[in-house]
Amino acid sequence: MNTLHTIAQVRAAVSRARQEGKRIGMVPTMGNLHAGHIALVEKALQRTDYVVVSIFVNPMQFGPGEDLDSYPRTLAEDQKRLLEVGAHLVFAPSASEMYPEGMDGHTRVSVPVVSEGLCGASRPGHFEGVATVVSKLLNIVGPDVAVFGQKDYQQLAVIRKMAQDLCLPVKIMGHPTIRAEDGLALSSRNGYLNAEQRAVAPLLQRTLQQIAAQVTSGRTDYAQIINEASQQLSAAGMRPDYLDLRDASNLSQVNDQTRDLVVLAAAYLGTTRLIDNLEFSRS
Ligand code: PAF
Repeated sequence: MNTLHTIAQVRAAVSRARQEGKRIGMVPTMGNLHAGHIALVEKALQRTDYVVVSIFVNPMQFGPGEDLDSYPRTLAEDQKRLLEVGAHLVFAPSASEMYPEGMDGHTRVSVPVVSEGLCGASRPGHFEGVATVVSKLLNIVGPDVAVFGQKDYQQLAVIRKMAQDLCLPVKIMGHPTIRAEDGLALSSRNGYLNAEQRAVAPLLQRTLQQIAAQVTSGRTDYAQIINEASQQLSAAGMRPDYLDLRDASNLSQVNDQTRDLVVLAAAYLGTTRLIDNLEFSRS
């Protein structure tokens, strides 16, 4: 397994793999890999012959005051895990390789509607940064299949829509969230939690399960359900950023006819912002 840092090197390596008749898989990441990322790599390995994992903490998707500088950068450990799982190539570009003229005048990819609300409302410009870097990464590597985690549910919806609208010749696949035994969704940001906060954190997923149970049992007073759930999170010391029920297919608002739903949440524990979601159906 090689680690390459330039676009030209990666293009050359992928083109050699293609000439050998290999199907190309890709897993874009920001590094600090955990079992959730490894599951994405395993899925890509099952479906393709040559898997490229990108590791790039993309400055364009961080807002002012967010954790760009403190985001964990652990390339050596990441390389070890990727070697063990059987990835073929790591692409770890610098910011100047990705944005040689800086970000100010850079072309941006914006995906309206699906980027709005939820994380898009709390993190202005975030999904534009994600869509821009993911389209660059997909253009650099040219994979047949790219795999993303469903923990970032809105991100996955944005990337699917971008790939569809821009006619990118890639199959975008989601992978279910990998969780700790107590239900907490694995995330690089869990490392910011102290022991006390870590003990409270699983309440986020439990609260989403309670909301889903209430809706499937027939309650339709959605605002009240969400309000009660928010109070439960606040009482435990979390600061809910948003908590919302949406149509699972396109993240539009739910109505009484919506059958496939997703409940999504973001909440702060101290300064750490956790996100999670839960898909469910009702008859
Ligand atoms: O989910 C992430 O780690 C990032 O948002 C992604 C998709 C790698 C783009 O930087």
